[in-house]
Amino acid sequence: MTAPVVGIVGAGQLARMTSQAAISLAVVTRVLARDPSDPACLTCTTFEIGDPGEFETLESFSRGCDVVTFDHEQVDPALVDELEALGRQVHPSGRVLRFSDKAHQRAEFAARGIPVPEFVIATTAAEVVSFGDVHGWPVVAKVAVGGYDGRGVFVLDGPDQAETLMGRLEARRVVVEPMLAIEAEISVVVARRTSGACVSYPVVETRQVDGICVETITPASIDPEVADRATALARRVAESIGATGILAVELFVTDDGLVVNELAPRPHNSGHWTIEGAVTSQFENHLRGVLDWPLGDTSLVAPAVATVNVLGTNSHDPIQHLPAALAVEGARVHLYAKAVREGRKLGHVTATGPEPEVALRRARAAVEALGVPLTPPSKALTSKNGVLS
Ligand SMILES: Nc1ncnc2c1ncn2[C@@H]1O[C@H](COP(=O)(O)OP(=O)(O)O)[C@@H](O)[C@H]1O
Ligand SMILES: [Mg+2]
Repeated sequence: MTAPVVGIVGAGQLARMTSQAAISLAVVTRVLARDPSDPACLTCTTFEIGDPGEFETLESFSRGCDVVTFDHEQVDPALVDELEALGRQVHPSGRVLRFSDKAHQRAEFAARGIPVPEFVIATTAAEVVSFGDVHGWPVVAKVAVGGYDGRGVFVLDGPDQAETLMGRLEARRVVVEPMLAIEAEISVVVARRTSGACVSYPVVETRQVDGICVETITPASIDPEVADRATALARRVAESIGATGILAVELFVTDDGLVVNELAPRPHNSGHWTIEGAVTSQFENHLRGVLDWPLGDTSLVAPAVATVNVLGTNSHDPIQHLPAALAVEGARVHLYAKAVREGRKLGHVTATGPEPEVALRRARAAVEALGVPLTPPSKALTSKNGVLS
């Protein structure tokens, strides 16, 4: 067998860590970057510069790749359909990428009997207001396309804020749902081969501040029966949409049971712990899945694993303090070589431990040693200005 060539569209930290995993398997990675300073350009086998929004670029990039996959889902699914029509192997497919549209996702899940919050898809303030009047205020409105890390998620206290937001969004589609009392936010990372076999990782608890994930703990400290149901639900989602490679399913644990919040058809922040904390990392299992190779063991290698994100502050680049962070016992530091920007994910730290608190303490200590405050700087995410608090 010759070494397969995996093309990755996008060159952020996910492509960076996927190409790191590819090195040990002698898989060749070819990355489509926007800029030579993108995080994955340092770790991939080769990179090309181009705009993934142009079909010609995608078409020539995919030539010579055994399979094409993605660092992010901001690629037009219609262009992916066209590549597939040319016989190119693209995983996830255009059909799966369409689920990155939160409105499409919600409507499809509801139709397939997958539990989701009450919702309406709206383009006008009047539609938002009538949902709020029926279900109660505040409501949460989310742009269907293009939001991430809480950007694009808005808490609306009443009709005035609905008017302001919808005016600003100029008829963009939003998903509107009740502001839920969430007991825990969890994620199930699933890996699926193109031929259908599927494995899943232990359930992760994710903690958000201002809509952005700041830390994860595995296994989640939830009722084992709830964990089993979450796992079954995530696997059902993966089968139902025909996911290939990694699929992360975010769920809310509420008084009323489990609901699916959203999915990400790619390696995910809630799976970064798997690099040191599982027998096989999500990045390696993504490669195995899209290449239709046997999937690796997803078991934990320690009783508990914690990952804390390194979020940018305006004051300095965390790399300045790297030696101090490396001095923290048991902490494994990952920096993505990204330019510093406030609130931006610049890296993460993972630590294992005999129990969650110990793992978390170790990981947090290393992040603090990098000079990064443990909660991200305020991005003015309050319901007053219409953004999630
Ligand atoms: N209906 C809701 N009620 C309460 N909090 C929510 C609701 N929807 C989202 N959130 C919070 O906002 C975060 C980001 O929302 P999400 O829909 O996952 O968008 P993103 O694509 O930015 O991750 C969630 O992780 C959760 O903490
Ligand atoms: Mg999310």
